[in-house]
Amino acid sequence: MFISIICQKGGVGKTTLSVNISDIIAKKGKKTLLIDLDPQGNSTTYLYNKKKNSSFDTLTLLEEKEPINLEEITEVRENLFLIPANQKIKRLINEKLFAGSVLYKRKRNNEFSPFENIVIDTPPAMNSLVHESINVSDYYLIPTRAEYLSVEGVGQAIEYVKRIVSNNRNINPIFLGVVLNSVDKRRVSYKTFYSELRFILGDKLFETTISQLTEIADAPFYGKTAYEYNPNGNAYKELTLLVEEIDKRIEGYS
Ligand SMILES: Nc1ncnc2c1ncn2[C@@H]1O[C@H](COP(=O)(O)OP(=O)(O)OP(=O)(O)O)[C@@H](O)[C@H]1O
Ligand SMILES: [Mg+2]
Repeated sequence: MFISIICQKGGVGKTTLSVNISDIIAKKGKKTLLIDLDPQGNSTTYLYNKKKNSSFDTLTLLEEKEPINLEEITEVRENLFLIPANQKIKRLINEKLFAGSVLYKRKRNNEFSPFENIVIDTPPAMNSLVHESINVSDYYLIPTRAEYLSVEGVGQAIEYVKRIVSNNRNINPIFLGVVLNSVDKRRVSYKTFYSELRFILGDKLFETTISQLTEIADAPFYGKTAYEYNPNGNAYKELTLLVEEIDKRIEGYS
């Protein structure tokens, strides 16, 4: 099962959620693959132990036609595998034939079958990398910050995916919903904000929200996931609830 985390707006929590959702799913004993499709490579820096050098990265993933050799994919945590970013994929962005090509074929050829879950971290853009990620996704979710200007980006992201889907009858990614990230419930405007958003999005707004927490901002500095940084902390608690809600939503669709 492929899940993409998308939003063309930068800094809304795509990488934070990609890394921690993958980590939490992997901890449940499910073989999980995180693909860092963002040339910025934030998920890669976050999780990667340079001693374990991987020759298989996103450039190989998107360009080479040879089937994936699983032995070349690095296990960065128990049950958690990473296809690290390669900045050079930037040049693929403008190649016309790129969208819907190699990654889609790899999925069709069952090359990812050893993995129960594949999570894709995407760049803050509406380009062929995100397009490719939507093409292979069974599900996608959109994080946003709890601010009016960020929420504008949500509508644009939803429209963008709709356009991709309407141009390709072979794909049908399911929208899991919008996750409010970096929430400060003490702010007086928060309640109004949440209920207005609930009115617009209905059940496409996740009930679980992720608070603005220094442990979430600090953990990447130490290359630690929320669990590794503080297994008793609120960050891990909330992110675990988020994964439970994702599971529940997926169950509802299958
Ligand atoms: N809930 C949170 N509490 C505190 N800090 C957060 C929270 N979520 C994200 N951050 C911090 O905000 C910054 C942006 O988050 P992140 O990198 O996950 O966003 P992104 O959407 O992946 O950004 P980009 O669009 O550049 O890829 C990071 O420094 C991250 O640690
Ligand atoms: Mg990111």
